[in-house]
Amino acid sequence: MSFRIGTPLSPSALRVLFLGGGELGKEVVIELQRLGVETIVVDRYADAPAQQVAHRAHVIDMTDAETLRALIERERPHLIVPEIEAIATDELVRIEADKLAAVIPTAKAAHTTMNRERIRVLAAETLKLPTSPYAFASSLEELQAATEKVGFPNFVKPVMSSSGKGQSRLRSAADVADAWETAMSAGRVKQPRVIAEGQVMFDFEITLLTVRAASGTHFCEPIGHVQVDGDYVESWQPQAMSAKALARAQDIAGKITAALGGYGIFGVELFVKGDEVWFSEVSPRPHDTGLVTLVSQNQSEFALHARAILGLPVDTSLRAPGASAVIYGGMEARAIAFEGVAGALATPESELRLFGKPESFKKRRMGVALARGRDTNEARARAKTAAGAVKPIAG
Ligand SMILES: Nc1ncnc2c1ncn2[C@@H]1O[C@H](COP(=O)(O)OP(=O)(O)OP(=O)(O)O)[C@@H](O)[C@H]1O
Ligand SMILES: [Mg+2]
Repeated sequence: MSFRIGTPLSPSALRVLFLGGGELGKEVVIELQRLGVETIVVDRYADAPAQQVAHRAHVIDMTDAETLRALIERERPHLIVPEIEAIATDELVRIEADKLAAVIPTAKAAHTTMNRERIRVLAAETLKLPTSPYAFASSLEELQAATEKVGFPNFVKPVMSSSGKGQSRLRSAADVADAWETAMSAGRVKQPRVIAEGQVMFDFEITLLTVRAASGTHFCEPIGHVQVDGDYVESWQPQAMSAKALARAQDIAGKITAALGGYGIFGVELFVKGDEVWFSEVSPRPHDTGLVTLVSQNQSEFALHARAILGLPVDTSLRAPGASAVIYGGMEARAIAFEGVAGALATPESELRLFGKPESFKKRRMGVALARGRDTNEARARAKTAAGAVKPIAG
């Protein structure tokens, strides 16, 4: 079944409401705008990137269930697209159950994936997918036991956090107390809960973008990426891997996305060593490492998401090898400007996305450089050249 598209800002409009309006949502909004869909973007601050290209914007606390419910009742969207994790997902479950709106891909997917404990238990215990050894802890004493159980080196992460916030890599028992402190200072909720994960000694890690559409489940070519402190700095597509590893990756991605259900794109994060594959985590939405698909695929992950959620046909084919390189703010300031844009875009087969975020932080992603090449090496070199040429300066 596909949705009937009407005329935006009229009674026949098909309305899609985004919870979170970052750079990934901005690209999905643009795709929906092209199809004549009415878009409404909600964020916790004004002038978020996706709000700048939407029909309407609202600023609310999305973790507050009552506020969220009241806004949904006022806007009456047909579809709700969660773009971030920090949302009152219990309320989304009720909104879906009350048939007030459909949640993309499902309210259960948003609820399960926002918590590392829920998604890990689903993946490892219910679906029996291979993962790192893990244990949960609610106190420093429990964390000491958990880290002994999973072994060193390991990673400790708040169960509610993203983009590397509150994470530590521990080499020995001497690191446990500091890791507990770091997790407690950064977690999203007040009740303390962390996961300890034994380090997987992978050759490389990938994002396997997986689309659940009316026509079935489709896989994009694997995306390779480099992470620094839990934040992605560079990605490329396709990432070469053995046929056996690719088959295993697709099997894992097919199972976890089927369990979460619904229509839309998922970013399945996997670790690969030779022919072996481990599940790490999954986003039920476009993935930041998938920004590369804006140049490397015939339909980007954003176009695929827009089409899939509307019940329309999708095409996950590769256009050409591509790469992305992140542009950080490098400073704490509002209303910054960018120098070197012309120089950057002189790079062959390159593009830029400057997100328009109202405030820059040293380590905030303010833009991304994208490039194609004969192979991923050439594409990576070009993307890095273009990203390096862009200089954020005080406005
Ligand atoms: N168990 C592990 N073994 C090996 N590497 C790991 C493990 N856990 C995390 N990492 C490394 O840290 C990175 C970030 O971890 P993870 O994806 O769990 O955090 P995150 O906060 O959700 O990050 P993001 O939001 O950027 O995806 C991984 O991509 C990987 O490079
Ligand atoms: Mg991750």
